[in-house]
Amino acid sequence: MVKNFWMTMVVLAAVMLQLSAQTVAPTETALVPQPSSVKVNAGQYMITESTRIGYAGKDSQVVAMADRLAAYIKAKSGLQLQVVPAIQPLYNMIFIGIMQVPDSLGKEGYTLTADKAQVAIKAKTAAGLFYGTQTLYQLIKPEVQKKLPMMSIPLVQISDKPRFEWRGSMLDCGRIFYSVDFIKKFLDYMAMHKLNTFHWHLTEDHGWRIESKKYPKLNEISSWRAGTQFDHSPERQINHSPHGGYYTQEQIRDIVQYAAERFITVVPEVEMPGHTLAVLAAYPELSCTGGPFKMPVQWGIQDDIFCAGNEQTFEFLEGILSEVAELFPGKMIHIGGDEAPKKRWKECPKCQARIQADSLKDEHELQSYFIKRIEKFLLSKEKNIIGWDEILEGGLAPNAAVMSWRGIQGGIEAAKQKHTVVMSPTDFMYFDYYQGEPYLEPVAIGGMLTLEKVYSYEPVPAELSAAERKFIRGVQANIWSEFIHTPEKVEYMAFPRLAALAELAWTPAVRKDWENFTKRMEAQYKRYEEAGINYSRSAKHVWQKVELDTVSNTATISLRTQSYQPEIRYTTDGNEPTISSPLYTEPFQLSLPGTVKAVVFENNKPVGKISVQSVLVPAGF
Ligand code: ACM
Ligand code: ZN
Repeated sequence: MVKNFWMTMVVLAAVMLQLSAQTVAPTETALVPQPSSVKVNAGQYMITESTRIGYAGKDSQVVAMADRLAAYIKAKSGLQLQVVPAIQPLYNMIFIGIMQVPDSLGKEGYTLTADKAQVAIKAKTAAGLFYGTQTLYQLIKPEVQKKLPMMSIPLVQISDKPRFEWRGSMLDCGRIFYSVDFIKKFLDYMAMHKLNTFHWHLTEDHGWRIESKKYPKLNEISSWRAGTQFDHSPERQINHSPHGGYYTQEQIRDIVQYAAERFITVVPEVEMPGHTLAVLAAYPELSCTGGPFKMPVQWGIQDDIFCAGNEQTFEFLEGILSEVAELFPGKMIHIGGDEAPKKRWKECPKCQARIQADSLKDEHELQSYFIKRIEKFLLSKEKNIIGWDEILEGGLAPNAAVMSWRGIQGGIEAAKQKHTVVMSPTDFMYFDYYQGEPYLEPVAIGGMLTLEKVYSYEPVPAELSAAERKFIRGVQANIWSEFIHTPEKVEYMAFPRLAALAELAWTPAVRKDWENFTKRMEAQYKRYEEAGINYSRSAKHVWQKVELDTVSNTATISLRTQSYQPEIRYTTDGNEPTISSPLYTEPFQLSLPGTVKAVVFENNKPVGKISVQSVLVPAGF
């Protein structure tokens, strides 16, 4: 009896401990990307009608941030908070201020502290404050149980700064023309992920998207085509509706400004010498053969590129780049440089004459001559160039930055040559690849790049020395649009993978943690829903692993997803899983032949698509 009493007491104490742990457990912050340092204390700061938003800093951007925060709180809760200038955080205030903060926070870092009395975001720069407010947006929660409108912020001490200075996403608007409104949405979504570089792919074989006052045929001819290839199959692959458009100079200025308000630099890409058939369709005299050329409707690399032996090519490019340099205030212009077949140059008397006259070894050195000449011109306009890693071939231009896409070797080589590098290898950073099993996905270009694989990427190659590593300035995802024809599909392909990229780009490598990321992503998915983002549910699709046992004629089936603690339900009777189907807890035996259908349930409803695996009796049995 006595023994039982004590045992009961021990159990009771354990239960009570657990209960109290639950009640005082720090509120989950679920921040994406994960900050450098987060300390969560028990309790919350309550935003009520008497809360004021205070700002310190002369920068008009700081006032705009304070106003935007007030508008957000109004939209979410109806609370109309007063926005006031302040020198320092005061009682019952959400304060954002440019202040003295530790130098270690760098140009883009911030601190965010919330206690019961006040919330303060401090940074050395407006950019730092902006990132602090992005974190704050993820922390603010509506208090739906309260009678009066209220919101709350968990009590936190955050100190944060980005790992890389170039945190980029490229969007291919050359192949598909997306509206100004969508570009702005995309910039909003980038900002939400603390990304700061929008690489705007504006020229392609299939379309020219920049208004030119000097070369109007770029807009009359190069911006339009008769149709679009929409899938891989040999039949039915061309949609014959005309496609095209271009951004007016006014729209471009507007987008650049919109991006700047979100601390995003726009890096325009003007492709050369390849990916230029659209230009040649309008100005065939800039080609090696003289044309004529039609605007292509099928994807693929084109043989016809700018003639490197023709002075008119450089006159044209200097003309157009002068217009581009005026439109984009950023330091960098991307000059492409990728996938330029040398076939035409090999056969062109003018190109060959240039090789002779300049004692160039071959066509690769001719491309290097081309890029160096463009670099020199752009330096005269105080712009630096960045190009795809092919610009290493034949010798890198003296100040060029390199975007490593054909794997990481180009980035390694450029870093060893002490050039700035942005890592964007196909295997980890090409968001036009499938993000789940192709039978569950809309058509993609090919490849396989799951959320987990994006997250696994380490942008700094291990083989670089400490000194060389400093040249790896950033990391970028590329969204090529051959098979991404609508804004909704851009969102589908970009999200949630862009969240994984954001964490690679922002969070210290030591804080990376896949399991924890999937847990925080549950909150991020809700944020996507709130923002109306058409994100992919592929990370919740079930992957089935089949291990055949040819002795017992069975298979062992293991199920997993790329999401946090999924409720996987499955059937083996051919029916679609329902909420009463068996819950997957561990690998199970399937007798053959057999079919497993599995899907994740949330709130009693299936999420995404049903994974189907039919396993036959192995041959010979
Ligand atoms: C590229 O994907 N051609 C840079
Ligand atoms: Zn030529």
